[in-house]
Amino acid sequence: MSTAGPSKQHLIDPGICIRCNTCEETCPVNAIAHDSRNYVVMVEICEGCRACVPPCPTGAIDNWFPIAPGKPYTLEEQYSWDELPAPDAQSVATTSAEPDDVARLTREATAGQGGPVAAPWSAEKPVVNLYNEKNPISATVAGNFRLTGNDASADIRHIVLDFGGVHFPLLEGQNIGVIPPGTDEQGRPHHVRLYSVASPRDGERPGYHNCAITVKRVTADHEGKAVKGVASNYLCDLKKGDKVQVIGPFGAAFLMPNHAGSSLMMICTGTGSAPMRAMTERRRRRMALNEGGELMLFFGARAQDELPYFGPLMKLPKTFIDINFALSRVPGQPKQYVQDRIRERHDDVWRQLNDENCYIYLCGLKGMEKGVDEAFRDVCRQHGGDWDTLLPQLREKSRYHVETY
Ligand code: A2P
Repeated sequence: MSTAGPSKQHLIDPGICIRCNTCEETCPVNAIAHDSRNYVVMVEICEGCRACVPPCPTGAIDNWFPIAPGKPYTLEEQYSWDELPAPDAQSVATTSAEPDDVARLTREATAGQGGPVAAPWSAEKPVVNLYNEKNPISATVAGNFRLTGNDASADIRHIVLDFGGVHFPLLEGQNIGVIPPGTDEQGRPHHVRLYSVASPRDGERPGYHNCAITVKRVTADHEGKAVKGVASNYLCDLKKGDKVQVIGPFGAAFLMPNHAGSSLMMICTGTGSAPMRAMTERRRRRMALNEGGELMLFFGARAQDELPYFGPLMKLPKTFIDINFALSRVPGQPKQYVQDRIRERHDDVWRQLNDENCYIYLCGLKGMEKGVDEAFRDVCRQHGGDWDTLLPQLREKSRYHVETY
């Protein structure tokens, strides 16, 4: 049974969970399940190994409730919750930690094998969990621009949210939560969805308390079955002046280094470009300071007009950023993935892997993670190195950050 100490039950907080499926995918004993609404832990299967805890982007997974002997919460109960029961609902239930506890996130991030790492040593200290579902901030849509071509299969949008002069501190790589209005088919409020900010810390328009997010209209599920994504369709249809309920900020690890001379290797697909756009824009705005360091980008998309931020990226000086596109569906051209480009650029990739000041970021499709891992392994082998030795060192030094979905 799931324990973090004797007779504690592992539970997922449905009020915070963003239903990203990471816990279910991570659990080594398949103790996590979900229905159309909630993620739950099967008490009789869970071994309390905590493997699911570090990868959880919100901390919703990290709840260990003391329970009366032999009286765990049933699956039926867990599926019915909108939030965890009140502390006095059964025995003396308490949550082990708040998701806004940055110290806890950092500790967890450095703990387990293969989990997320701590933020780079020089990263700005993030503020997290300032606004929650009970206390969201109302943002106004300042713009909603289509990033993909009119004939592109994907409708990806750059949406600018204005916080009306209210300070909403965000760092590149952090996420915000959006609460779609209305209710689901059971009449319950929709769950929050998480989006990575695409703007730098001083905002899309510097000094105006605003931010941008990159949203792809979801029209199919992971298996390709037609579904209309509630939050993405809501966001993509927003008009200037519309109000949006926002929570956050979230995320305390996927942050960029602040020190002069630090380099970034950014690897992304599709909307995984959002944090890369934020980091690149941060560096672009500081270009005149000549702080040194290099930017290297590997960006995968089906075709040029399916690639968010293609135009602005092409305008950046080659001396500022080394851009490597990988296009997979261009008629007459061989299919390319980011991992192919990483292999092609092995000399520079190897140099950056070995540069203590280079920080590596992966964001986008989950499938990419394995492909990139194999590409790095090949690059290491080609240069007489060993990826299995190097990767734990990169994590230990907070130089390898992954956010895939
Ligand atoms: P593909 O043409 O094979 O789907 P999407 O447009 O679905 O968001 O995907 C963005 C890009 O990521 C596409 O070029 C897609 O190629 C590519 N992609 C798909 N699977 C992988 C993978 N396992 N590793 C790297 N790139 C991938």
